Amino acid sequence: MSHGKILTLSNGKTVPQIGLGTWLSKPHEVEHAVEWAVQAGYRHLDCAMVYENQDEVGAALKKVIPSIVKREDLFITSKLWNKSHQPDQVERELDETLAQLGTDYLDLYLVHWPVAFPPGKGLFPPDSAKPGHVELDTETSLVDTWRAVVKLLDTGKVRTIGVSNFTIDHIKGIVAATGVKPTVNQIEAHPLLPQDDLVEYCKAEGIHLTAYSPLGNNLLGKTKLVDYPAVTEVAKRLGASTAQVLVAWGVYRGYSVIPKSVQQDRIISNFQQIELSKEDYDKISEIGHQAHTRFNIPFTYKPVWDINLFDEEVEKGATHGVKIH
Ligand SMILES: NC(=O)c1ccc[n+]([C@@H]2O[C@H](COP(=O)([O-])OP(=O)(O)OC[C@H]3O[C@@H](n4cnc5c(N)ncnc54)[C@H](OP(=O)(O)O)[C@@H]3O)[C@@H](O)[C@H]2O)c1
Repeated sequence: MSHGKILTLSNGKTVPQIGLGTWLSKPHEVEHAVEWAVQAGYRHLDCAMVYENQDEVGAALKKVIPSIVKREDLFITSKLWNKSHQPDQVERELDETLAQLGTDYLDLYLVHWPVAFPPGKGLFPPDSAKPGHVELDTETSLVDTWRAVVKLLDTGKVRTIGVSNFTIDHIKGIVAATGVKPTVNQIEAHPLLPQDDLVEYCKAEGIHLTAYSPLGNNLLGKTKLVDYPAVTEVAKRLGASTAQVLVAWGVYRGYSVIPKSVQQDRIISNFQQIELSKEDYDKISEIGHQAHTRFNIPFTYKPVWDINLFDEEVEKGATHGVKIH
């Protein structure tokens, strides 16, 4: 087993291939998780304003910097939330994130979703005209937001910029308008959602991919990917955990992978990389040929975001599409 592989981004900066996810880590869990992760050798942390736990991540960072790690040896990602897509809100929210994390720069700042909400009404502003729905800002475009994010590079507060949950069309739209490619696109990717076209496109364009929900998450209460027979069979044969097999599946594809756990033994073992043979990689990939599943679809959230982002069958009834320009 080996761990700690480093990948190079198109801007020459490097990112550790395995990072720690922090979404859905409950209060008082994530501080320990981050500490344990850094002790175990993780140097890549994935955070976001909307996870509402960045202050706890910051408390953990205070404990590990500089006693275990130097700030410059960590790769810290955070994400601009939908309520701050308006150009005059972008740097303000970044400053809030930096204060929560207790750092003066991010290694990577992502536009979390290709969706804008109005500012100043909370993280999920309720739509007074449509109960059970989030209010959308249908005026602010991805290009407006991307231009403001590009300007952040001049502030020294972010080293690299990127996007998340963007499709090929969304990326083409912002690049055509600004001439600036996102360095990273963070997307849901696992054997049930391989996203081959997007992976190919980003590879050809030199855009680094980070795979989120690499273990399949469990939002829908379906069979967990870690329990799929193909995964358990390969894991048993290799003497590895099923989560290690799923992380290795992403690693085989050449991108970075950010499994989340708040349990110390899992945090440690998820980071120990195993290698898959082509045969085992193909075997795990077969899962996706049988059952396409995207877990993270905002149109199915409660409250509903009434927007078609990925053109999944279940999104066809949405009122809005993404405003690229
Ligand atoms: N950009 C975006 O829109 C977006 C969306 C979703 C996620 N993300 C990022 O990606 C990270 C990872 O995705 P995710 O949290 O959705 O899902 P995930 O990492 O695929 O799965 C997390 C789940 O797997 C469990 N788990 C962890 N290690 C395990 C192991 N060794 N064996 C069995 N179960 C294990 C965790 O429980 P325990 O904690 O109890 O171990 C948790 O329930 C997030 O935390 C977040 O940082 C980004």
